[in-house]
Amino acid sequence: VNASPSAPPQARVLLASNRGPISFTVEDDGTLTPRRGGGGLVSGLSAIGDEIESVWVCAALTEGDRAATRQGKLGDPSVRMLDIDAGTFARAYNGIANSTLWFVHHLIYNTPTTPVFGSSFRREWASYEAYNRAFAEALAEAAAPGATVLVQDYHLSLTPRLLRELRPDLRIGHFSHTPWAPPDYYRLLPDDIARDVLVGILGADRAGFLTRRWASAFADCCETVLGAEVDRSALTVTHEGRTTRLGVHPLGADGDFLRERAHRPDVDSRLAALREAVGDRRTVVRVDRTELSKNIVRGLHAYRHLLHTRPEWLDRVVHIAFAYPSRHDLPEYREYTASVLRVAQEINDEFGTPDWQPVLLAVDDDFARSLAAYRLADVALVNPIRDGMNLVAKELPVVSDDGCALVLSREAGAYEELGEDAVTVNPYDVIATAEALHTALTMPAAERADRCKRLAEAGTALPPSAWFLEQYRALAGDQLQE
Ligand code: G6P
Repeated sequence: VNASPSAPPQARVLLASNRGPISFTVEDDGTLTPRRGGGGLVSGLSAIGDEIESVWVCAALTEGDRAATRQGKLGDPSVRMLDIDAGTFARAYNGIANSTLWFVHHLIYNTPTTPVFGSSFRREWASYEAYNRAFAEALAEAAAPGATVLVQDYHLSLTPRLLRELRPDLRIGHFSHTPWAPPDYYRLLPDDIARDVLVGILGADRAGFLTRRWASAFADCCETVLGAEVDRSALTVTHEGRTTRLGVHPLGADGDFLRERAHRPDVDSRLAALREAVGDRRTVVRVDRTELSKNIVRGLHAYRHLLHTRPEWLDRVVHIAFAYPSRHDLPEYREYTASVLRVAQEINDEFGTPDWQPVLLAVDDDFARSLAAYRLADVALVNPIRDGMNLVAKELPVVSDDGCALVLSREAGAYEELGEDAVTVNPYDVIATAEALHTALTMPAAERADRCKRLAEAGTALPPSAWFLEQYRALAGDQLQE
């Protein structure tokens, strides 16, 4: 591993995640263009403040990232990018993180044919171990004595334990942004790997989850797979003499940022274009990555069912579906995107008229256009088959101009906080989803506005910087108590 040399060696707060705050593209003339990512972790780390020396350890994801790392051109001394061998990285990221672990936690294996845990899987697993070790070593090297380290997500489930072996003095937290699988499903994994992932996370002093449901599922897996001792009221797991506390930190939307960003001129101009396309019809809006767990295809089937069974909506509604390209190195994702496009086209062919296109689908990345759709939405459709949280459900009500109704899957983490004011659905039941769309579309305006206001309040209760500080303080607080 080559790590960028510019990081301060003795940071007191460290963050580790696969995707970092900055990414580089190589232009045709060979120059490197940086692109700074937004998002919760970036604002969270800045919330820690300038006084505390902090470092963000992440992976080089693109050729541009690798070049910037090798040439020492990251331009930010607090970012340490790991230039892990491209093959090792691809096997760890695509093979284990995004296929195996993501698929297990989102219950999206089609078990008669997948998974197959054979020799190529074992090679991927060895790469995942090497990738996690690279993170542990970089963190061990950069951390000051007794420093606090916040390790993020399923890419890095082995890192807490590996890091503790290298540096027992550190305060280590791990946070899962995904759901956690129930034991019967989790045990699809080969036995040794099912154990290693749990033991890896239990290397942390604290393991954080987005909802109580995912934290409980993790505890259930520790009990079933490891025989660990679980205290459900104190939310602790004790294994081989060490106790890990489980925390529940329901990440919310960044209301201040969204309200300001959604009224900039680039959003206004896209809103005008969308209004022109929609006319005086109602809108059902969804915005997702083209992600298997987001259930976009069943959402389209539900919309088709609505048009079939409630002809009063013909020519009266438009389904705006914006789906960002995601993880297209995996064939499952390419196929999924193709089926989204196909079903949308079928609906437009079946019901469309010269004046009305029932589905407006776009599969490219345009954040300003998504915010414009948020503002225009009469109904937001968030129907994942399983989702750690789903921030769209929390963001959209904040930005909505006239108050939108939310159709929400009970399998999204956001359901725990938003369920009361949403129209909730079983995401597999397309007939019930169609009925929920009808209920949402016909909800009286005053009720819709009231509910939308409460959804926006609940959805912004723990904005990213507060969420981040909460975890950081919980780790520090544990230390004070000991
Ligand atoms: C989920 C994961 C994140 C991940 C994001 C985008 O939200 O929890 O860790 O970064 O998806 O996926 P990507 O593979 O593009 O980083």
